[in-house]
Amino acid sequence: MDITLKVNGRPEQFSAQPNELLVERLRDGLGLTGTKVGCDTGQCGTCVVRLDGRSVKSCLVLTASAAGGEVATIEGETTRGGELSGLQEALRQEHGTQCGFCTPGMVMALGELVDATAGGEAPTEPEIREWLTGNLCRCTGYHSVVRGVQRACAAARAQAPAAEPAAASAAAGQEV
Ligand code: FES
Ligand code: FES
Repeated sequence: MDITLKVNGRPEQFSAQPNELLVERLRDGLGLTGTKVGCDTGQCGTCVVRLDGRSVKSCLVLTASAAGGEVATIEGETTRGGELSGLQEALRQEHGTQCGFCTPGMVMALGELVDATAGGEAPTEPEIREWLTGNLCRCTGYHSVVRGVQRACAAARAQAPAAEPAAASAAAGQEV
């Protein structure tokens, strides 16, 4: 079947089998290997990307079901000049990454939380940890990741123009 997708702002058009997974299209079809495959069964979160703004586990999404949508991967987070996103920089400063295998999925999942709360209340530590339950990390013990998210949220709120009442409620859960 013929499918169109926008990936990191760039239009893509291709033919795909009905059972093709989005992670296969990204990695094997488009060469975006920053998205990792850890478990292939929806448990580890290394494959998280954003589809139409929401974080999803791309090993659980059929490419066909994403047709017409907008996909953001870790490759789109860093600028062409190599500048890190706010969350990436905060994780770097708090040592929130070690081997780095989980980091692309973490950044894509947690970035949704940072963005959603930028104009309102900062997420509490329990809320951050709940958000993190879909992303496994064998190295960091999560403490430094939580600190990185807190740092990123503080920076994002400092830059946000005004509070938006609906923003804080978005911290209720991620769609993964
Ligand atoms: S590869 Fe583990 S959740 Fe997708
Ligand atoms: S930094 Fe190694 S798995 Fe998370």
